[in-house]
Amino acid sequence: MTQPRAIDATAEDPAAVSAFEARIANGESIEPKDWMPERYRKQLIRMMSQHAHSEIVGMLPEGNWITRAPSLRRKVGLIAKVQDEGGHGLYIYCGVETLGVDRSEVVAQLLDGRAKYSSIFNYPTLSWADMGVIGWLVDGAAIVNQTVLAKASYGPYARAMIRICKEENFHKRQGYEIVATLAAGTPAQKAMVQDAVNRFWWPSLMMFGPSDTDSPNSAELMRWRVKRRTNDELRQRFVNLTVPQAAAVGLTLPDPALRYDAATENWEFGEIDWSEFHQVVKGNGPCNRERLETRRAAERDGAWVREAAMAHAEKQRAKDRSAAA
Ligand SMILES: [Fe+2]
Ligand SMILES: [Fe+2]
Repeated sequence: MTQPRAIDATAEDPAAVSAFEARIANGESIEPKDWMPERYRKQLIRMMSQHAHSEIVGMLPEGNWITRAPSLRRKVGLIAKVQDEGGHGLYIYCGVETLGVDRSEVVAQLLDGRAKYSSIFNYPTLSWADMGVIGWLVDGAAIVNQTVLAKASYGPYARAMIRICKEENFHKRQGYEIVATLAAGTPAQKAMVQDAVNRFWWPSLMMFGPSDTDSPNSAELMRWRVKRRTNDELRQRFVNLTVPQAAAVGLTLPDPALRYDAATENWEFGEIDWSEFHQVVKGNGPCNRERLETRRAAERDGAWVREAAMAHAEKQRAKDRSAAA
């Protein structure tokens, strides 16, 4: 399943490319053994591995609160959510391997800083309310993105998204339930959850990526139906969904420019601070170094387990071989 593919000299034959694009235009899904342009394969490897890394690194800010959850019920919910995210990561790494690249290679790219993951996970989780707000806003934004990716042209990615979105919906609900409980609680609880919303609102909007005019990969990914909606369209959809949810629990969003436009039926919002976004992407967010160092330590500490498992598998194979001889 993971043997490297040689790029054959005729690979980018214009006739093959147009047949491929015709399949996409037809709404067909592209499967691992189908011919695809190298560029399509590379774009998918980049997007899917970035997505898998985000799931894995995304376990860290929430894992931080498991030991301090305020009740057994909240602890069980949070453990299950963090475990789900680990599962999403592993599932998407398997999807990446269908494109002919080994998981160890994409993990190495994460650990040495070549690969990116969602910037939102480079912000710290300062209070219990952050667990609610992350579920509500961060998983909520992920659902908006992933619902569209579930119609992506690459079959293994699209199918992974369908399954993952089902779990993300639970994550969003458990988050919103925490938010609603705190918002209806004591003045201190309400202040705590409002503070968490204030900190996570703008980074959540940045999760959709740069504006379409400034997104180098968007046009090509749209043409190949890897993406079906632009970053700005998805961001607007998220804002439209979220504003009424905030109002329903009596919380405000930290944007004085928010206003409803009856003509477009959109909630208009203020300018995003893209300089902050670019700083965090470059590695200068509040927790970038800590997150990567944690992943590197996990890789080092787990090395003996992987080595033992490989040695055991090799012993089993040798046993099977001598039994068959
Ligand atoms: Fe996830
Ligand atoms: Fe999630």
